[in-house]
Amino acid sequence: MASQANIKHRPANEWIGCLTYKSTATTNPTPADLQAIVNQARTRNRQMGITGMLLFEDGCFLQTLEGPPAQLDVVWNAIKRDKRHCNIEVLSERVSQSRLFSQWDLLLYNGQGKASGSAAHASAPPAISRYVRKITKLALAADSAGLDGLVGGLVEQGWKGDAIVGLLIEPAARALGDAWLADQCCELDLTIGLSMLQLAGQWVRHEPTRLGTDPAAYRILLATSPGEQHMLGTALLADQFVAAGWQVEVAFPASTEALANQIAAERPDAIDLALSDALPRRHALTRLSTAISVSRRAASNQPTIVSVGGRIFAEDAVTAVMVGADHARRSVVGASISIAELVQQKRKS
Ligand SMILES: Cc1cc2nc3c(=O)[nH]c(=O)nc-3n(C[C@H](O)[C@H](O)[C@H](O)COP(=O)(O)O)c2cc1C
Repeated sequence: MASQANIKHRPANEWIGCLTYKSTATTNPTPADLQAIVNQARTRNRQMGITGMLLFEDGCFLQTLEGPPAQLDVVWNAIKRDKRHCNIEVLSERVSQSRLFSQWDLLLYNGQGKASGSAAHASAPPAISRYVRKITKLALAADSAGLDGLVGGLVEQGWKGDAIVGLLIEPAARALGDAWLADQCCELDLTIGLSMLQLAGQWVRHEPTRLGTDPAAYRILLATSPGEQHMLGTALLADQFVAAGWQVEVAFPASTEALANQIAAERPDAIDLALSDALPRRHALTRLSTAISVSRRAASNQPTIVSVGGRIFAEDAVTAVMVGADHARRSVVGASISIAELVQQKRKS
């Protein structure tokens, strides 16, 4: 589960390249043709230390590949030469400190909502992740009854709130973002889909997490980064911090000044500023950095922990240090614990 809030730094020679592209199939591949591509790919990927995911739907491929940059280049060059597809368009290319598909030589999503794969290591990914595609489709179709049924069913089966949020809702938000980036839905569909996920998240009850000290003494301001219109992360965090007994204020500031005013008035122990969980929002990082330094000045007489979150932090592309924050969460799951620890440390120092 992507719940490790504190980012561990790896030496530069261990960085993982990650590439996502879409392309058009030049023929209409049968399931056997697809399986042949995947079998050939898995053998090579295993030899090269490459992991990833391949989706085929409506005549198009969407593939994510991750691995050591030199090996990734070799495989990518072979894929680009392959006559079985055309119109290859890179959707994202980045380096990361961890893999998203570490268990999979190549996970195949076959367009029927089923995922099949060959585990690179002995253990399979958590069973719940196979529902990501389903929940993404339901969210895009704004099918709230379907979502309630799916999430409610998982709760009945005994799935814990943290697993549903970290393994299902957050990945579905990123999948919605990918669908938008790949022009498979419009911005309105994306926004509606995220709201649907937010609603589904409300069905999930979080286990109260108690630390040694009573967290009721802690106050947090959960805010979207100024100007950010996607609020899924902030909403999910609010549920979690309330369950953990914090005093929670939520804000959607339109400007950095509005955020600063709220911080000066609330004097929270911690602030979380969230960018979109669906889109990387690279262009919003400068504004986020400014918001963080303005927040620190507004809270100058109070030792305040500043946390950040959103897809760009979940994917390790940017760290807390780069934007001037104390903490970057890779998931909303576990955030109340790691931020409480930082508040405790700051109070002691
Ligand atoms: C959509 C698609 C995805 C592919 N993915 C991979 C892959 O992940 N790894 C891989 O080694 N080959 C993959 N292949 C096959 C390569 O394109 C290529 O045929 C194979 O690596 C052998 O290449 P070579 O004979 O040029 O060395 C894929 C092919 C297609 C059409």
